[in-house]
Amino acid sequence: MAIRNIVKIGDDILRKVCRTQLKFDEHLHQILDDMAETMYAADGVGLAAPQVGILRRYCIVDVGDGLIELINPVLLESSGEQTGQEGCLSIPDKYSEVTRPMNIKVRAQDRFGKTFEVTASELKARAILHEMDHLDGVLYIDRV
Ligand code: CO
Repeated sequence: MAIRNIVKIGDDILRKVCRTQLKFDEHLHQILDDMAETMYAADGVGLAAPQVGILRRYCIVDVGDGLIELINPVLLESSGEQTGQEGCLSIPDKYSEVTRPMNIKVRAQDRFGKTFEVTASELKARAILHEMDHLDGVLYIDRV
């Protein structure tokens, strides 16, 4: 594993719409492993592929209850509302209040291409939605 450079705000990469990940191979696994190491080293709770310079639709999240890898995630359902502080590893030392759904259901693929669904609420829902936004070139500051 290796720590990768995190792309910072101002770089056009963060504003692109990412493409579907089609291959579930060793190369993907290597990047996912590196992303986890990079996220933990930076003390983050999520990281999306474009933040390490890769314009593909996948991200990782760990809010303290275990790592989840979301490949080609799709939001199926959302309900409720929450407002709370949000930051981003690509926007150092800045935090703002963002309003998002309280509960979500997402369908995604795992690193082997197997489809699964995850339900989340509160911080975990917030983190997943924040990372999914990155896949469409959206940053939390756009939602403030
Ligand atoms: Co972010």
